[in-house]
Amino acid sequence: MPAPQSGAGPTLTGVRPPPRLRLARLPTPFEPLDRLSALVGGPRIWVKRDDLSDCAVSGNKIRKLEFTIAQARQENADTLVTCGGLQSNHCRATALLGARLGLGVELVLRGEPSGTPDGNLFLDHLAGASVHCYPARRYQQEHEALLAAHSKRVQAQGRRPFVIPTGASDAIGVWGYVAACAELAEDFVQAGIDPRVVVCATGSGGTQAGLTAGLRLHGLRAEAWGMAVCDDAAWFRNKVHADLASWQQRYGVALDTAALAVNVLDDYIGAGYAQAGQDVFQTIGLVARTEGLVLDPVYTGKAFHGMLHEMRHGRFRDAKDIVFVHTGGLFGLFAQRGQALAGGALAVAGAEP
Ligand SMILES: Cc1ncc(COP(=O)(O)O)c(C=O)c1O
Repeated sequence: MPAPQSGAGPTLTGVRPPPRLRLARLPTPFEPLDRLSALVGGPRIWVKRDDLSDCAVSGNKIRKLEFTIAQARQENADTLVTCGGLQSNHCRATALLGARLGLGVELVLRGEPSGTPDGNLFLDHLAGASVHCYPARRYQQEHEALLAAHSKRVQAQGRRPFVIPTGASDAIGVWGYVAACAELAEDFVQAGIDPRVVVCATGSGGTQAGLTAGLRLHGLRAEAWGMAVCDDAAWFRNKVHADLASWQQRYGVALDTAALAVNVLDDYIGAGYAQAGQDVFQTIGLVARTEGLVLDPVYTGKAFHGMLHEMRHGRFRDAKDIVFVHTGGLFGLFAQRGQALAGGALAVAGAEP
């Protein structure tokens, strides 16, 4: 594969530009979902197809990792150490990008695999990452210590680790969706729209942090709305503000991040992280049948379901256009195909709004 281009990231006045590798296939398409919009009524729904940001590395993580891995290379690291759930899209993207760039990858995963590795976990192995799995309780209690222990082990082998936090959601990762907002600004011009609402799934907060700051920095009037897939709204507001504050300080960005509204809805988490209810699977089926667009049960399915539910109940009634950022996650659907069938993804009756 040709060497990725590298160089400085987005130029914003007065900002120390971060290093960036060009890894994603950008710009991603921006498309209206007119059949679905007609079915639901209310604002016209548009989708930013970040699920097409690459083939197997697809999704939102590649946008953040363009900056994170550039930083790792600048610090002369040769091994990426990161963490997430067994079906983490972020870990899969890191594993594949590490292979593409000739970097070692160590994954610290939450959960105990049973049977043949499936979905993202299968791809982690295929990409040659070293996979270390821990029971959920131990992972939660010893998270930092486990990452530190694996970094130390890597160092003892004469390699140079670079630790990436969950979801690459930190000051560096914020750049991924700040930069994506330049693309959205161009998409809006091309489509002749001035949307006030941009919706995304929010899991570790980095996508929402980047969108929240990026929409302001690019002079757009839209507000980012995060649909929580795990923790509650208060947790996300704190996380997004903390990541934005450290991003602002690290890069000298002239933006009062504390004054930015962080809009989070936490009514669509269901039974917990990666556990989708029937309603979510039915929405996944509806969107696939109506638009040929595939969502996943962990992130985009929950978020899209929440967006449709809010639209039907009038939250965005003043919006003419509403934008959904499709952040990828396809492989997670395969890992839950049994639940999808049992949950009614194929059942038409009663699913339409
Ligand atoms: C497919 C997908 N969508 C959305 C998200 C949420 O993004 P973030 O972690 O930046 O909140 C993630 C990761 O957590 C993801 O894998």
